[in-house]
Amino acid sequence: MTAALRITPVTLADLPRLMELERESFSDPWSESAMAATLEIPVVRALAARRGEQIVGFVIAYLIPPEGEIADICVATSERGQGIGARLLQALTEESDCTEFWLEVRASNLPARRLYEKQGFEAVGLRKHYYDYPREDAVVMRLCRGEKSE
Ligand SMILES: CC(C)(COP(=O)(O)OP(=O)(O)OC[C@H]1O[C@@H](n2cnc3c(N)ncnc32)[C@H](O)[C@@H]1OP(=O)(O)O)[C@@H](O)C(=O)NCCC(=O)NCCS
Repeated sequence: MTAALRITPVTLADLPRLMELERESFSDPWSESAMAATLEIPVVRALAARRGEQIVGFVIAYLIPPEGEIADICVATSERGQGIGARLLQALTEESDCTEFWLEVRASNLPARRLYEKQGFEAVGLRKHYYDYPREDAVVMRLCRGEKSE
């Protein structure tokens, strides 16, 4: 039987697995030192999707209410298409006090763009030649959730 999925906070002990997922997911992955330093920033919130003991996806965001910035999200190649990316984004946005979220995504990354659109993000801008390896534009996307009620 497949273990149930749990969404829980990332700890520094998770860094090696996060780097494995990062390297399998991106042509221009974060360095381990950048990832470690980011996880220590007080306004950074990082959540992992865990199946049993194994991390199968994660999301990292800067949360400075009222705005949040999604900095990184990825799901293990073998676990994609099962709603894990959507659950990570929902958990992050629902638990935070932010009413507006921003992110950049490679223009050609249609799976990610669809994921974001399905979560309510809208394309609001373009940053030319934002990415390297390969050189590519970024689409800027924004999610507005209105004021959160108490
Ligand atoms: C983008 C990513 C995180 C999506 O994670 P996932 O767990 O596979 O996504 P989900 O299963 O939650 O999919 C949610 C929605 O996204 C869209 N989507 C996901 N994968 C897709 C694909 N390959 N093609 C088209 N749409 C896709 C669909 O609309 C899907 O909803 P649906 O299944 O009801 O149609 C994953 O593909 C990934 O890790 N990619 C590499 C890293 C990356 O590009 N991160 C984003 C950087 S900005």
